[in-house]
Amino acid sequence: MNHVAIYPGSFDPFTNEHLDILGRAASVFDKVIVTIAVNSSKTGLFSDKERIELIRDAVRNQHWSGKVEVEQFTGLLVDYARQKNASVLIRGIRQVADFEYELRMALANLRLAPEVDTAFLMPDEKNTLVSTLLVREIATWGGELSSFVPPNIASALRRKFMTH
Ligand code: PNS
Repeated sequence: MNHVAIYPGSFDPFTNEHLDILGRAASVFDKVIVTIAVNSSKTGLFSDKERIELIRDAVRNQHWSGKVEVEQFTGLLVDYARQKNASVLIRGIRQVADFEYELRMALANLRLAPEVDTAFLMPDEKNTLVSTLLVREIATWGGELSSFVPPNIASALRRKFMTH
């Protein structure tokens, strides 16, 4: 039996923490679909199309990249999971502060689709402080991004903020 997991998020931008979690998920599941979903409380930096291409590029050289697909979805995540025959949603927990939001979302998803579980994975310690918010802030002021995001994302951020 093929175990398909969905790794959902805004990924705007995709960070080293996301890459870390994705690699761990790929080592556990047969297939992981990175799903760029709409978080109605966040504003967009990169377009969906740009995010898809950036994530595909970022994972291309990983030994587990064959297990990964990248797609975009608008709607309820559990509907998408059902559509893809996925039984698990992956979310990364970096610190205790993430837990309340994550628990609320996981329980809402469980109520909507009791057959779809959420699995929480932890990143390596060096990635626990990496967040998209922090990355955006550093990129805005031209700071060094190499320990926060994959190289192709750092280049895309530099290009994006140079034109602003
Ligand atoms: O990386 P993020 O922004 O914390 O990811 C949140 C995301 C996009 C996974 C979440 O907002 C989401 O699942 N959006 C799709 C709509 C939905 O299904 N919401 C959850 C029901 S409470």
